[in-house]
Formats: sequence, C-alpha cells, structure tokens
Amino acid sequence: MAEIAVIGCGQAGLVVATAFASKGHHVTGIDLDRRKIEACRMGVAPIDEPGLDELLTQGLASGRLTFLDQYPEYPERIPAEFVFIAVGTPTSPSGASDLHALKSAITRMAPALRDDAIVVNKSTVPVGTCDEMVRLLRRSGAPKATVVSNPEFLQEGDAIHNFIEPDRIVLGSNDPDSLERVAGLYEDFGATVVQCDVRTAEMIKYASNAFLAMKVSFINEMASICEVLGADVSGVAHGMGMDRRIGAQFLRAGIGWGGSCFPKDVSALEYAASLHGVRAQLLRGVQETNRDQRRQVLRKLRGVLGRLETARVVVLGASFKPNTSDVRESPALEVASLLRLGGAEVRVVDPHVVPESVPAQFPYLDVTGDLMAAAQDADALVLATEWPEFIDLPLEDLAGVMRRPLIVDGRNVLDDRAVRAAGFIYRCIGRPNAEGGGVTLPEDRADERLDGRITDWPTVERAERADRERIPSRNGRQAAALASD
Ligand SMILES: NC(=O)c1ccc[n+]([C@@H]2O[C@H](COP(=O)([O-])OP(=O)(O)OC[C@H]3O[C@@H](n4cnc5c(N)ncnc54)[C@H](O)[C@@H]3O)[C@@H](O)[C@H]2O)c1
Repeated sequence: MAEIAVIGCGQAGLVVATAFASKGHHVTGIDLDRRKIEACRMGVAPIDEPGLDELLTQGLASGRLTFLDQYPEYPERIPAEFVFIAVGTPTSPSGASDLHALKSAITRMAPALRDDAIVVNKSTVPVGTCDEMVRLLRRSGAPKATVVSNPEFLQEGDAIHNFIEPDRIVLGSNDPDSLERVAGLYEDFGATVVQCDVRTAEMIKYASNAFLAMKVSFINEMASICEVLGADVSGVAHGMGMDRRIGAQFLRAGIGWGGSCFPKDVSALEYAASLHGVRAQLLRGVQETNRDQRRQVLRKLRGVLGRLETARVVVLGASFKPNTSDVRESPALEVASLLRLGGAEVRVVDPHVVPESVPAQFPYLDVTGDLMAAAQDADALVLATEWPEFIDLPLEDLAGVMRRPLIVDGRNVLDDRAVRAAGFIYRCIGRPNAEGGGVTLPEDRADERLDGRITDWPTVERAERADRERIPSRNGRQAAALASD
C-alpha cells in the first residue's frame, strides 16, 4: 500500500483523501484552513457530500487517515511518495485562472518533499501549468521533483462514486517512470487509464468541461427555439438523447449551468485561447446562452405579473445543484440577484444551505430554510435548484398562503398537471404545450407555416437589455473586451 498526501482538503481533495484511505493506502491530508482540519480530525466532513462522513470516520478509525494544518518544516518531510494537489484555482477578474494557492502550495511543500516524491496535480489548471510547477518545485528546494497531471472529473453530490468508479483516468507527464508509478495507484479502479503528455492531460479536463457546458447551453438554446415554434424541449431532448452519438446526459433544459467548475473553466479556456490569438467564439456563445437562461425567468414572471417592482418572489434553491451545499456561481442565486435588481422582494429557500455560506456578493439576499414562512403572501415561486424537497412541494398548502399562485419551474421537473390542479399558473422552460409560457402555434395556419408564408411569428424576448446593463458581469466584461479587440 502506498503513502499518499493530499494538499487541499476541499470539495475535491477530501474525497480523494478519504477514498484512497478506504482502499487501504496511508493518507495525510494537509490544508491551511485550521477549522476544516479540526472538523476532519473529529470525523465531521466540512463539506456536504453524500457518504463523505462515513468514509472520513472509517479512515480515522483505521489509523490510515490523518490530517495536518501546516506543512512539515524541514528536516521533517511530508510522509508520502505521492503528493496530490487539490487546491482551488478560482477565476481572477480578468477571466484567467488564479494560481496563487497553487504556487503557494508548491513553494511550501518543495523543501518538505521526499526525494522519491511525485507531485500529482488534480487542480484544474491552464495548459502549461504543470511544466511551470516542475520548474518552481526545483527552484524551491525539490531538485528531483517530477509532476504528473491527473485531472479530476468528479461531480459534487456523487463525488465518491465518481472518484472510485470513474469513466476513465487521465494521466499526463513528460516523465514516463513517474507516470507508470501513478498508474499503479489506480490499478484496482477498473477504469481505462489514458496516458498522454502533460499538456494534453491538462487540456482534456478543460475540453471535457467546456463540452458539457456546451451541451447544456445547446439544449437551452433549443428550448428557446421550441418555445416560439411550439415544440416541447423535453421530448426533443429525449429523442436526441437516444442517439448514442449524442447521449442523453446534460440535455435537460433549465436556467443553466453554474458551480465551482464549469463557469471558471470555460472562462479560463476562452481567456487562454484569446491570449494566443484564438477567438473561441463557440465558448463565448456557450457562456452568453447561459447568461440569457437566467433572464428567461424574469421574462416569464413579467409575462404573468407585469411589473416586478411590486412582486414578492420566492426562489427555491441556493446551491448550484441538488445534493451539495456549494453555492459557488449558483444559477439560483444569480436569478435571485437579477430579480432583486429588477425591483422584486426576494426570499431564497434552501433546505441544506446555511445563510452564512451565501457569499458576500449577495448580502441583500434573504436566505431561509422555512418554505411556508417564505411563501406567505408571495406572488411567485421560482424553482431554481431541483432538491427532492422541491420536486415534492406541498402545493395545496402553498397555494393557500400565497398572494398569487404562480410557479416558474426553472428545471422542468414538476408535474405540470398536479401543479395546475392545485390552482397554480405553471411556467417552465421550452415546453409551450405544458402551459409553459411560450407560444402555441396556430394550428389553422400550419400549412402557411410549413411553406414559410407566416411572417408574424411571435418571437421570444431575449435578454433584458436593462438587466444586461445593470448586472456587473465578469464574463460580460471579458466578452466585451474581446469583442473590441
Ligand atoms: N469541486 C469539484 O467538484 C471539482 C471537480 C473536479 C476538479 N476540481 C478542481 O479541484 C481543485 C480544488 O477544487 P475544490 O472545489 O476542492 O476547491 P475548495 O475551495 O473546495 O478546496 C480547496 C482547498 O485548498 C485549501 N488550500 C488553499 N491554499 C492552500 C495551500 N497553499 N496549502 C494547502 N491547502 C490550501 C483551501 O483551504 C481549501 O480547503 C480546483 O482546481 C477545481 O477546479 C474540483
């Protein structure tokens, strides 16, 4: 069994650490956040991830999992042959990756690395970063260090399963011996190991996330077209997804993607491309469509309520998706913020997100776990995160306390008939026949439609210009800067 260290015990690193320990390896988790390490030592996962508490407790009890809140000082060494890095690589204001945490981790760990240690990078980093890491390690006191890129593809909410049973494992290095040794760690994972050069491995991660984001934006664009043409995007996605060349996953229309990975990774890839003179127009479009999706909610609310200024709206969900309390780049919070800027009174309800974790940029959002209290006298509910609690809403009770019973289903997950039977007006995304707020085509003019004689098609109002100007958008600024190149 191997000796492993994991630097950065956040959403990704803690899963990696506990999962390797569950496979019998000796693992040391290192993080500079003392409170996080304290919680880990007590067997309480500092993040909300199904199954993580159990793995943590088992690891601690076995004695194979330990935690440090600082790097060992030379001549002490990090007790590991494989040192995984999983520190955050957020977006900087320019759209590029912020590599401060990574550089700091490298310079601190270098003097404490064993001579036989291999640094394995799991943080998502711009292509070329692992080459830089080798140089930085060698300058910082680890003259023999080698680096293997091992991008991580886990999804929050199903992270342990994703890590232990991955679709594939990607390993890239310019040092074949190190690559073989890291491949050995994954021998019992039962997954194909893709071995390549280090830059290709780094790029596989970005290309994969960009492709998945593109798939979601694609179906969302289809949803907008479905609304004006009278088709149902759920049926379209179903029919498309049965084609194995396309695949059914990531084809659910809604208010768009968010989270700690897609936004920063698509943005970083577009930025890297632009630095080298490549106009990544598809990536730009993928992000634009995603921003437009948030505004669909406002359009649908205005379609029923008229002005938003006097409306009370309850946004269901704060986390960026169900089964995680992670609110980074959450579509739900962005919709809530747009509504607030549009003049509405907004309450955000999330069963698992504590108000304190809603980031500082949304100090004006009122977050609670009490659905019925929030719904009192509300004019509309917006389902933004498909937590099971929200798919199974107490519809009659809600209709009884709301001022106006209206639901905008931003994830297309509610049973529209049950919602309407409880007295609600129902709006959703891209499904006009589900009373979705789109336009049902005039049947008696179907022939004209087919031969193109109808010219007065009602069109979907696209992004609200006023909102576009009022919402400071990093990506918007970046796109504008690129457009003026
Ligand atoms: N979250 C995911 O689902 C996921 C999936 C795949 C890949 N990734 C990638 O993994 C990386 C980590 O993401 P995350 O979501 O786990 O981030 P996170 O913010 O949840 O965790 C990062 C951790 O690193 C710690 N840290 C920062 N600087 C440090 C240092 N110098 N030394 C030791 N620890 C330090 C922080 O305290 C924090 O606990 C990112 O590059 C991300 O893109 C994340």
